[in-house]
Amino acid sequence: MTHRIAVIAGDGIGTEVMPEGIRTLEAAAKRFNIDLDFTTFEFGNCDYYLEHGKMLPDDWFKQLKGFDALFYGAVGWPDKVPDHISLWGSLLQFRRQFDQYINLRPCKLMPGIKSPLAGRQVGDIDFYVVRENTEGEYSSIGGKMFEGTEREIVIQETVMSRTGVDRVLKYAFDLAQTRPRKKLTSATKSNGISITMPYWDERVVEMAKQYPDVAMDKFHIDILTANFVLHPDWFDVVVGSNLFGDILSDLGPACTGTIGIAPSANINPEGQFPSLFEPVHGSAPDIAGQGIANPIGQIWSGAMMLEHLGYKEAADAVVTAIEEVLSEGDSSVLTRDVGGQGTTASLGKAIAERIGA
Ligand code: NAI
Ligand code: MG
Repeated sequence: MTHRIAVIAGDGIGTEVMPEGIRTLEAAAKRFNIDLDFTTFEFGNCDYYLEHGKMLPDDWFKQLKGFDALFYGAVGWPDKVPDHISLWGSLLQFRRQFDQYINLRPCKLMPGIKSPLAGRQVGDIDFYVVRENTEGEYSSIGGKMFEGTEREIVIQETVMSRTGVDRVLKYAFDLAQTRPRKKLTSATKSNGISITMPYWDERVVEMAKQYPDVAMDKFHIDILTANFVLHPDWFDVVVGSNLFGDILSDLGPACTGTIGIAPSANINPEGQFPSLFEPVHGSAPDIAGQGIANPIGQIWSGAMMLEHLGYKEAADAVVTAIEEVLSEGDSSVLTRDVGGQGTTASLGKAIAERIGA
């Protein structure tokens, strides 16, 4: 079976880390006999916008919807195009129109990376944040009244649908079930937000009945953020609404060191539309063009894509190769952000060779 992958490198270091992402995917495909077919698209970047007045062609949905996955670099170049235009005009269109209702981020402390949390070793931090990606607090329901007067009022409603809540919970419980610890933590705030969050909690309890083998706990978001820092070893799979998940999915990877290595996935689990895999970092204009960006975020995102396509063994081999190259600590290979003097290509090649071995 051929898997068709749409490649959109985007801006800045997106165009530099993408070739390394593809190099390593090709190494994994060769070793595990996977048939990957890459098609590169030239839209979804700020130069395209300057030429066409939009980030994507009008028929982007039709062009991309038949693909098995989208492999994205990073979008944004604020000197050319304001960030809200570049982001809303590209990435956020994919997330919405392709109903990628899961945002998934692994938070794993890798060998050779110094955690900003004192005394944390490899193995201490290894969990996933699952964020609801389509509704919740990020709704467009609301409005403004009596603007500019003393009576000025602004209202923005949180939207939680049973379908929307249940589907993200199901995904998170399913994920917890595949993990050795089989533990799920729910982010809530039902003491303060007294209608939607008790509803969220109710649905968690209901869903948990179908997963008797998964241990479940919950924390209010305030103490949960504290516990990410104080006790990251407590967590295995953490699920949250759009807002809480947004906060946790930045805090979690931050606890594991450099932004250059963190991956993410925006998933439509039913496969009705393609899912999107991208590093957490942006286009890094400050280092773009120098060939020194760390490609691991892109490469690890590729591993998540392999797992999504059903190749767990290949995905694990990519992650293991990343871990081995990082733990060897060869400074001629590693990029500057992880203490080396190497380049994007030297690190990408070292990981690709290891996968092939
Ligand atoms: P950024 O992630 O691009 O950079 C933040 C800092 O981390 C910079 O100092 C950068 O040099 C460093 N950094 C990032 N990735 C790195 C890598 N792979 N290796 C080594 N160092 C790395 O975030 P920033 O500066 O806030 O945003 C720059 C542009 O990227 C903006 O246009 C923003 O909108 C866009 N952006 C796009 C995202 C996406 O495509 N999903 C996500 C975040 C930002
Ligand atoms: Mg965020």
